[in-house]
Amino acid sequence: MKIGVFDSGVGGITVLKELRKQFPGHEYLYFGDTANVPYGTKSPTQIQSLVTSASERMKTQGIEALVIACNTASSLAFQQFKNTLSPMPILDVVEAGVKSVTDALASPSTPILILGTRATVRSRIYSTLLKKIDPNYHIFEQECPLLVPLIEEGWIHHPVMELTVQEYVRSYQSLEPGVALLACTHYPWIKGGIEKYLPQWTVIDSAKALAQIAEQHLQLSTSAPHSSLTSMQWYFSDPDSIARNVLNEIHSAPSKF
Ligand code: DGL
Repeated sequence: MKIGVFDSGVGGITVLKELRKQFPGHEYLYFGDTANVPYGTKSPTQIQSLVTSASERMKTQGIEALVIACNTASSLAFQQFKNTLSPMPILDVVEAGVKSVTDALASPSTPILILGTRATVRSRIYSTLLKKIDPNYHIFEQECPLLVPLIEEGWIHHPVMELTVQEYVRSYQSLEPGVALLACTHYPWIKGGIEKYLPQWTVIDSAKALAQIAEQHLQLSTSAPHSSLTSMQWYFSDPDSIARNVLNEIHSAPSKF
């Protein structure tokens, strides 16, 4: 099966890695819209129009299923993905994020911290979906608009990153520790840094839950025959903007899309 994985930039690679690990032997097409990243500081209308054009481009490449590995695009433009790609199966990182939180909660009174882009947090999608499961959940939502540009720059272990993370999570350090969801697929690149400033908190991401959803919805098997090699196509709308340390991770020359 040819599976498309979409993100505004290099964040969705954190999801793709998990999918490739669990489901080898498939064809993967990754598209990062690096000419337009970050999405999280753009208006809903801008995000919707970017998603429509990205979906059209991926469709022409013959994908048979799409994994939306971008919380911002999913929160603001799920309908635009559907309009362009239906009836193709579309898997949603927000659904996976909600599942990751509920799986990780020790009790309904455990504090839940959603760390996301400005657009995702302002959409209130996580608090809306979680409150539907239990209206008594204690949910905090923190927008972190500077993190995606720093990660795209490759400043993953940079002092500026440390200061920025510290600033965003400072007010939660005095709370009873709970579960913090990385509700942006870029943030697993800096998971260690976030854990450092949220000691005692359980910091989680959505990649494993998304892989579980993929297994169910796409009937993927974790035991692909050894003969079938995973094939990988990398596309970026601005491949020249990708930071060197990220390029080293993907071990491949990306194409312009
Ligand atoms: N990885 C995207 C997400 O999960 C980042 C969005 C952005 O470009 O700001 O939300």
